Amino acid sequence: MPENDEFWNFYWEIALRSMENMGKREAVLAASRLIRKLWQQNGQPVRLLELGCGEGQIVGTLLNGHAQYCASNLIAGVDHNAQSLARCRNDFPGMRFIQGDFTDPALLSTLGRYDLVLLVNALHEVYSSEFSHALGEINAPAAKRRVESALAEITGLLASGGWLLLFDGLEPPGHPDEKLQIRFLNEEARAHFEGFTSQYRPFRISCRETDSPFCVELSRRDFTRYITKSIFLGKALWQTERLESYQYFREVEFRTAFARCGMKISELRTLTMNLEKWQRLVEIVTPGEDFPQEHILILAQKK
Ligand SMILES: C[S@@+](CC[C@H](N)C(=O)[O-])C[C@H]1O[C@@H](n2cnc3c(N)ncnc32)[C@H](O)[C@@H]1O
Repeated sequence: MPENDEFWNFYWEIALRSMENMGKREAVLAASRLIRKLWQQNGQPVRLLELGCGEGQIVGTLLNGHAQYCASNLIAGVDHNAQSLARCRNDFPGMRFIQGDFTDPALLSTLGRYDLVLLVNALHEVYSSEFSHALGEINAPAAKRRVESALAEITGLLASGGWLLLFDGLEPPGHPDEKLQIRFLNEEARAHFEGFTSQYRPFRISCRETDSPFCVELSRRDFTRYITKSIFLGKALWQTERLESYQYFREVEFRTAFARCGMKISELRTLTMNLEKWQRLVEIVTPGEDFPQEHILILAQKK
């Protein structure tokens, strides 16, 4: 079987066609490259773990593509959702799926060591779990500490020289309250925004009306929340998605947290998703402002 990059690019182009979420696609492609590299280096089946594996879309797709590099009994997924794990066990027999909280050190101590640990769209849920009813929003300092300590525990699962792949939301740089003005390009887009601001729970989205009924002013941070979370509005997933903040760290905070855990970042990319769709709905009026890079992909190796 030809196993050069051209072959794998073609394989993934076909295999990921059904994965509509482009973010996940980037995570799978990066993990695929790492798995092949690890196999070449070690000549042994790659030990792979996904924390917050959901229905196994990521880890299962990787096993399907790389059965020759990964023995299924050396691949595991952890999630606290029993229903999701039932689906995983049905779809990917032979893999190990463990129900539990991946921030729980007692659970982590039972999992063994891995060459590659995946955290795809999972850590922001740890952050979001620190919602304070007293504050009426997420207690951001406490939530950040919770993410940092989870990250430190998780890196303890890596074998010597092991890799962590993180894909998640990214807070925009600059001052959090820096304002920008936006213009909705049709009435539907304006109504969609109203629906979002009234139902999104993790933080209050505040915006200032302007002279034009189609223009509002809001912080760059809230704009980022709007374009990442409102995509679920009106869908079944909205009931859970409206409770979660996808963003928690700025790039510099990710870098600091990884360095603190003894992880050396070898690749860091920031990405914008659904840009063309957004450009049909809303325009940024403030000069010099562009759509934010709201996702981050990090590959880091244990020092
Ligand atoms: C947005 S889904 C992502 C699923 C999968 N990684 C993917 O991208 O297809 C996040 C998953 O993380 C799980 N999760 C969040 N926090 C968790 C925790 N502390 N312990 C275990 N699972 C957790 C949720 O149950 C959910 O299935």
